[in-house]
Amino acid sequence: MENTEGKPLLQVLHGARLNSPPIWLMRQAGRYLPEYREVRAKAGSFLDLCYNPTLAAEVTLQPIRRFGLDAAILFADILLVPQALGLDVRFVEGEGPRLSPVLDGAGVGRLKFDEARLAPVYETVRRVKRELAPGVALIGFAGAPWTVATYMIAGQGTPDQAQAKLLAYRDPSLVDALMTKLVEATITYLRGQIEGGAEIIQVFDTWAGGLSEPLLEARVFRPTHDIVAALKSSHPQIPIIGFPRGIGLHLPRYARATGVDAIGLATGDDIQLAAALLPDGMALQGNLDPLALIAGGEALKHGIEATCRGAGSRAHIFNLGHGILPETPPEHVAELVRLVREARA
Ligand code: CP3
Repeated sequence: MENTEGKPLLQVLHGARLNSPPIWLMRQAGRYLPEYREVRAKAGSFLDLCYNPTLAAEVTLQPIRRFGLDAAILFADILLVPQALGLDVRFVEGEGPRLSPVLDGAGVGRLKFDEARLAPVYETVRRVKRELAPGVALIGFAGAPWTVATYMIAGQGTPDQAQAKLLAYRDPSLVDALMTKLVEATITYLRGQIEGGAEIIQVFDTWAGGLSEPLLEARVFRPTHDIVAALKSSHPQIPIIGFPRGIGLHLPRYARATGVDAIGLATGDDIQLAAALLPDGMALQGNLDPLALIAGGEALKHGIEATCRGAGSRAHIFNLGHGILPETPPEHVAELVRLVREARA
């Protein structure tokens, strides 16, 4: 039996059935919390906050203190990896990330992974681990190579990241070379987080949806499989949650092809269908609509009931179907936690 140290989230990931599902929320540290906005103002920019271990550990712990969630997720960003590969990365207030685009062989050739730039993130992990309340698990994370590549190619987020798809069709060997670098850097980065004390890893593939063959296989399944296989060989005890947002009926193939231990479902996924189709024993995470959390009241109650009912007898980790939105009233999050704890108790 694995040592789950009395942590409900680890117990569920190792196959236990609990009366009520453990709960954490994607983007649980963030702008909807006044205490986050205060620390963020003190830090200067968002990236300054990510690279400041004292302040990053503080904002990681804020939602745990306020809501008593079952897991802390490291405060950082998926775009720190392109920065460690040498790209200029900025976050423009109210607009989102801006990167110097990588569009040709020379651009890919210039990418050199400098792990030392991520040392402050490992220090954040160590600090959080020291201060974490008993029973609370620590989640580390990275972007999946495809999702990170879409930002490196477009230089920003767009409604569909079509530019990256087009490049993947037009110049597959260029995108192969880019993804090879991302896979290697991501393995090193996640191992660093695990060595620092991360107990679970989540791989965010926000832009996995809407891909068809052969892109799905080459850009989502294979690189994620390579990362999972590398982590399983060095750290077999660390559960890995995949979040392939929006891949719908490709979920069972994703689960089998990548070797992840659990699936994070997106808002539009049918949790009941996923419970029926995914490999036996695989835990499901999700997938309340973040807008139902903003709405609160009956919408929130019904959303929680439908989610828990849909999970049925599956091992279930309660979460949203995507990140918490800045407009979310913190009291609704407190209400959510209370209702989920009552759900099946
Ligand atoms: O979940 C957590 O609380 C941990 C920290 C975390 C952040 N980003 C902090 C953040 C995690 C796990 C991420 C992942 C991430 N970052 C993803 C994948 C998950 C998803 O949401 O789809 C992506 C695509 C990014 C890239 C990114 N970071 C974008 C596109 C933006 C701008 C959009 C926005 O919400 O402003 C960010 C900024 C960001 N990352 C913020 C936070 C708290 C807001 C920055 C601020 O404080 O101004």
